[in-house]
Amino acid sequence: MNLKQCYNTEQFRRLAKQRLPGPIFHYIDGAADDEVTYRRNTAAYEDCDLVPNVLAGVETVDMSTTVMGMKLALPLFLSPTALQRLFHHDGERAVARAAEKFGTLFGISSLATISIEEIGAAIPTPKMFQLYYHKDKGLTYSMIERCKEAQFDALALTVDTIVGGNRERDLVTGFTSPPKLTLKSLASFAAHPSWTLNYLFRDRFELSNLKDYVDAGTNISVSVSEYFSTMLDQSMDWNAAADVAKRWGKPFCLKGIMSVEDARRAADIGAAAIMISNHGGRQLDGSRAPFDQLAEIVDAVGDKIDVICDGGIQRGTHVLKALSLGAKACAGGRWYLYALAGAGQGGVEKALANMQAEIERDMKLMGARSVAELGRNNLRFR
Ligand code: LAC
Repeated sequence: MNLKQCYNTEQFRRLAKQRLPGPIFHYIDGAADDEVTYRRNTAAYEDCDLVPNVLAGVETVDMSTTVMGMKLALPLFLSPTALQRLFHHDGERAVARAAEKFGTLFGISSLATISIEEIGAAIPTPKMFQLYYHKDKGLTYSMIERCKEAQFDALALTVDTIVGGNRERDLVTGFTSPPKLTLKSLASFAAHPSWTLNYLFRDRFELSNLKDYVDAGTNISVSVSEYFSTMLDQSMDWNAAADVAKRWGKPFCLKGIMSVEDARRAADIGAAAIMISNHGGRQLDGSRAPFDQLAEIVDAVGDKIDVICDGGIQRGTHVLKALSLGAKACAGGRWYLYALAGAGQGGVEKALANMQAEIERDMKLMGARSVAELGRNNLRFR
């Protein structure tokens, strides 16, 4: 498997599997409990079919969309995901540069391995910061202030990780941040010498935005699930979310909204957007898929806030289906993380190029010259 042979997400996934030690690969690839929700997130798109219109004069199509006031060249962006320097030594830098090239939004995580300041200086294109609401309010507020200073455009507060999900693959492999070279994982690290050498001899691994406040994750190994359960504030509620929105003062998004009731409350507290998401099936297994929840949420709040469908995206047609139901944009993590793990910035660029080509081709085949021309009339559920 090499980069040239990667035409789709599954092929990038195989490339990532080849390049990464088992515990790292399974951290990206795995989800909670029986991974039912993880599978459903993608399968949901197959419950409906596109109904094309033809003879529409589609020599040029406009794939751009506007989300939270930001104009994106593509209706698909790169969701914030954690620990990226474990997947490739360039980590978030590589993802930022690739997103910049394609003119789309990308997000960095509170658990990023490159600092807010470095990313802020690296690219002028739209950037989102994902906030975990820590018990330590000094830490929580410091990240908000640093994002303001670094001119981030949007802040997404994650609301679906109030405790850690039951990620059994991580329990089996013993995956932690930073990774532990245990007897169990040693064979896997030894079998991937180039990954291991990069990890040992490139810049020291750290959670750049947290390390001044907490040792966990940088100097003390913890699983991500344990991190959530011990470090995040389980008393977080709507007042807390409204307070974060106020402190931030710029476009604010709630990531991990699944119900119509919560979507309405998000609009009430002044959120500019919501990401319908179940955290890639990594938190509550048995939770509904974002695509399955999309129509009712768009019907309730689509005229007030931007609704983003986050999860399960593997194809351009998945994006078109979500846009047809009324999503402003789609987002996802694994589809570009496999590519990052497989080939760094070049990998992410290839994944973006594939998606860009698919979305453009599919829009032409649908007879849609702009994303606004996609609507429910071109979709049928079986
Ligand atoms: C995860 C977090 C860190 O799902 O987003 O692993």
